[in-house]
Amino acid sequence: MSEKIHIFDTTLRDGEQAPGSSLEVEEKIEIAKQLSKLNVDVIEAGFPVSSKAQYQAVESIADVVNGPTIAALARCIENDIENAYQALKSAEKYRIHTFAGTSDIHIMGKFSDDKYGKDLNEKRNTIIKMAVDAVSFAKSFTDDVEFSPEDAGRTDINYLFEVIEAVISAGATVINIPDTTGYTMPEEFGEKINLVKKKVKNINNAIISVHCHNDLGLAVANSLSAIKSGARQVECTINGIGERAGNASLEEIVMSLNVRSDYWPYKTDIKTKEIHNSSKMVSKHTGMIVQANKAVVGDNAFAHESGIHQDGFLKNRETYEIMTPESVGLNKSKIILGRHSGRHGIQSRLAELGYELSNRDMNKVYKRFLELADKKKEIFDDDLRILMGDRNIKKNNAFDLDYLHVAIGTNTIPTATVRIKTSDSIAEESATGDGPVAASFKAIKRALKLEYDIKLHDYKVRSITSGKDAFGEVIIRLFINDTLYVSKGTSTDTIKASVKAYLDALNQYERDKKSRYLLYIEEPVNV
Ligand code: KIV
Ligand code: ZN
Repeated sequence: MSEKIHIFDTTLRDGEQAPGSSLEVEEKIEIAKQLSKLNVDVIEAGFPVSSKAQYQAVESIADVVNGPTIAALARCIENDIENAYQALKSAEKYRIHTFAGTSDIHIMGKFSDDKYGKDLNEKRNTIIKMAVDAVSFAKSFTDDVEFSPEDAGRTDINYLFEVIEAVISAGATVINIPDTTGYTMPEEFGEKINLVKKKVKNINNAIISVHCHNDLGLAVANSLSAIKSGARQVECTINGIGERAGNASLEEIVMSLNVRSDYWPYKTDIKTKEIHNSSKMVSKHTGMIVQANKAVVGDNAFAHESGIHQDGFLKNRETYEIMTPESVGLNKSKIILGRHSGRHGIQSRLAELGYELSNRDMNKVYKRFLELADKKKEIFDDDLRILMGDRNIKKNNAFDLDYLHVAIGTNTIPTATVRIKTSDSIAEESATGDGPVAASFKAIKRALKLEYDIKLHDYKVRSITSGKDAFGEVIIRLFINDTLYVSKGTSTDTIKASVKAYLDALNQYERDKKSRYLLYIEEPVNV
């Protein structure tokens, strides 16, 4: 009989910490619903104390997403834990996940203040006490409490045993061993899990979990090695997104166990046919592009290029394929819809792709669909995903593009005219610039009489569908009054996509202005 491995998805917490990722609350809810369809066991929805937006996201997910346990992160601080509980309390099932750094490097770096102790030994004792108090406090809200000794991969092993034993005695039901910096080697990490099992007296009162980062490209290998040694929960993210080089990728772990079920006596409850939709949705909403050769979900994962491979594949697909595209939900880009398609057909295809829409949103999507169908004869799943990733559809924006005209030529100075709708007026202006995009940005700033300091930091454009009517996506990073915004715009026209991305950043800034406050600040919230 195969033993179950619990899948703890942290796309919305650790994944969202990926440089360049930016998710709005509505996008997080959409992803959480898709994770529930994927049938993960736990969704770590965020770190509620860190900002109002994080709190709102966790609270809304707890409210509307059924199925998986919803978890929230908290430092070993009562206010963090109280906030996590408040945000989670409406969930069907919820978990508080608390953590503290336990490696000497973390202890001496993060707890350098003398109030934590004069030397390493005293500080270590203080951290055990903080961890035990935090777990006991969390237990006053729920039975389901997870504790992580952060940077366990580099923590003195005997101290690690002490911390784990103490928090289990205080009531922790899941002990997560994070390789926070992706430092360990697979055999070494597996051995650490073996030692934890052997040396921690009360370890059978908790589930062992692992949480591996990918700094050396070993996050999945380390997770599998830990499973072999007794871990029964793995923490991972869709597309492997996360801090720095990312976290262990959910799809790689799940498909390793699944494809090699002859080797591994373990199973997960993941509905693998939802993997492709989940990957696409996360990539679209975060703006994090999946590399073409990424295992399981990359564009080339099922492509056969060389003649010999194609020939072999056509005779028998198993010659070069160890899993079928269908098993991960990839149905080779079918043409599905065109300008004569009705609302109902579109709505039901969107539901299959993981998007649930209110009637109001569906009206907007349908209008955009018809506009697109006028330009593009054939509408593919990817085109629909782009429509759904367009933040302008779902938001009450401060600024919307009403009109854009750009003049360029070999002997003319690029000139742009824009008309922008605000809540109570329409603003129009023209400007020149070094190129059409610069001219458009300048015209917008002028039309809206913006006094902000705006600095463009990075500008990327890529084609995201195929054919001559391909959609272009522009992702820009820009600082507005010293805060970094990552924004996106899509269109069949690159300049229009750039203008939409620019307006997306301005709209994010306007929304933030209304809600920007931290619920609690003791020290910088830095995980
Ligand atoms: O990488 C890490 O150590 C973490 C913890 C908070 C679990 O993300
Ligand atoms: Zn992490």
